[in-house]
Amino acid sequence: RQSYNIAVVGSGGIGKSAITIRFIQSRFTDEYDPTIEDSYRKQLTVDNAKYTIDILDTAGQEEYYMMREQYMRNCDGFLLVYSISSMQSYDELLNFYHQILRVKEVEYIPIVVIGNKSDLESERQVSFKEGEQMGCNISGPFFETSAKYGLNIDVAFQSLVRLLRDN
Ligand code: GTP
Ligand code: MG
Repeated sequence: RQSYNIAVVGSGGIGKSAITIRFIQSRFTDEYDPTIEDSYRKQLTVDNAKYTIDILDTAGQEEYYMMREQYMRNCDGFLLVYSISSMQSYDELLNFYHQILRVKEVEYIPIVVIGNKSDLESERQVSFKEGEQMGCNISGPFFETSAKYGLNIDVAFQSLVRLLRDN
C-alpha cells in the first residue's frame, strides 16, 4: 500500500483544522482553537487503489512559524488553504509556496489550492477567478470548499493523492 505525508498549510483561522476534521471525522465545530500541530491518518481509495495518508494539520498563527521548515521538509504534498473571506490569507499563500520550494529544494511539488469558507458568500473578498489564478500560478488544481457543509473536501484530498501518485 502506497503512503504519503500531506500537510495542510495557510494563515491562521482560515479553516485548516476544520477541513482536516471534516475529512477525517465528518463533523464541524464553530469553535476556534488555534492549532500548534496535530496529525491524523486515513486510508482512502482513489481510482480503485488504496492509499494511507498521514495528514499534518499545521499552525497558521505567526508565533509557531519556527515549525514550518521541519514539516515542509517531511511532507510529500500540500493543501495550500486561504479563506474566500480574507484577501490577506490569499496574499500570504505565495509566501508559503515559495518557502516550501526553498526548503525542499525543488521546482515542483504536488499542491492543491483551496479557497475555504465558500459558504460565507456575503463576506467574500477573494473571487473564484482569483482563486483559479492562484492555482494557475503554482500549477495546482483549485477548489473552493466549505468545511462547514462538507463541500468539495473529499475531492480536494483525492485530487492531491492523484498528483502524488503521478509525480
Ligand atoms: P489555526 O489552527 O490557528 O492555523 O487556524 P485554522 O486554519 O486551523 O482554522 P480553524 O479550522 O480552527 O477555523 C477557524 C474558524 O473558522 C473556526 O471558528 C471555524 O468554525 C471557522 N470555519 C472553518 N471552516 C469554515 C467554513 O468552511 N465555513 C465557515 N462558515 N466557517 C469555517
Ligand atoms: Mg488549526
